Amino acid sequence: LPPVSDAHKGPTGVIQVPSRILMGPGPANAHPRILASQSLPLLGHMHPPMFKIMDEIQDGLRYTFQTESKYTLLVSGTGHSGMEAAVSNLLEPGETIIVGNKGIWGERVVDMAGRYGAKVVDLKKQAGHGFTYDELKKAIEEHKPAVLFLCQGDSSTGVHQSLAGLGDLCHANGTLLLVDTVCTLGGVPMYADAWGVDCIYSGSQKVLGAPPGAAPFFFSERALEKVKARKTKPTSYYFDMNLVGDYWGWFNKRFYHHTGPVSTWYAMREAMALLSEEGLAASWKRHEARAAELWEGLREMGLEPFVENEAERLITVNTIKVPEGVDWAAVVKNAMDKYNVEIAGGLGPTVGKIWRVGIMGYNATPANVALVLTAFKDGLSKQGRL
Ligand code: GLV
Repeated sequence: LPPVSDAHKGPTGVIQVPSRILMGPGPANAHPRILASQSLPLLGHMHPPMFKIMDEIQDGLRYTFQTESKYTLLVSGTGHSGMEAAVSNLLEPGETIIVGNKGIWGERVVDMAGRYGAKVVDLKKQAGHGFTYDELKKAIEEHKPAVLFLCQGDSSTGVHQSLAGLGDLCHANGTLLLVDTVCTLGGVPMYADAWGVDCIYSGSQKVLGAPPGAAPFFFSERALEKVKARKTKPTSYYFDMNLVGDYWGWFNKRFYHHTGPVSTWYAMREAMALLSEEGLAASWKRHEARAAELWEGLREMGLEPFVENEAERLITVNTIKVPEGVDWAAVVKNAMDKYNVEIAGGLGPTVGKIWRVGIMGYNATPANVALVLTAFKDGLSKQGRL
């Protein structure tokens, strides 16, 4: 054998990670109970105690989505994997999707659906605004799409899209309603059944307070029927929800599809337990109260929301206009260097125009909000703005 090359040696010694307060758009800090669950002994991914944990997660997701549907699970991957699972299963090549595109997540779905051969109607909206019912009605009646995509909370702009009445509108036109809830699930109201939503995906690392790597997912009966009736197999094996669903016990016998990320699912089991213990409505209220405290303090400093229409303002990712002449990046840097707290800049269409402050899950506390306000005050004072 030739000598082993050590030109590229791996690390040695124990990993060191700074502890930070993550008040950007996510990941948010995880609850200690969630982190502790990840150091529990591994189970085989097909062991009965693991199936019990998966069942508990599915029930927790039914509560979180507010659905009676049997079809809930975690896609093994980040929020993007939920997006990919939804788009690749709900659409067959040549079918039409209307993408409510009001930020970076709409842009991603436009790209993704195109890759899967769908006909994409890119319904664009200026950053900082949501869609009205009438705008969506007009587009749906004109295009009769197989799917309407909307992002409930766009973390790149801070817009909260109302879903009221859209389920009925979609179903009257043979359309399935697909909703991204990556930065909203657990922090703002979601009533999947009552609102007639057909497919939802989310992320583990935002309001739910777990590490990134699991995507809560839901199909209505209607969505599942469509997937079952496909003429073509979904082109992705990993995201074929007929197969993933089998693994999660949606159908008859459980079937090995892939090796689930066991410790990530422990974390999500704990995230579901914490949410059930607090109560969903109480969690929504807590997020609302912390966002109100944040805005009271920001306004005292003369800072203004990026989203003009109050009814469209997202409370889990708050977007704040950068005043003329202020160096936004210096404020972000000062917050991290001096207060150990993450405040984020804009993303996609909002880069350089806004700051983003996350009010999410375990981090949504009065002390964290006060710390963010202190960091803003200090950062602005340093630029002679207060
Ligand atoms: C990621 O989700 C972001 O909004 O930055």
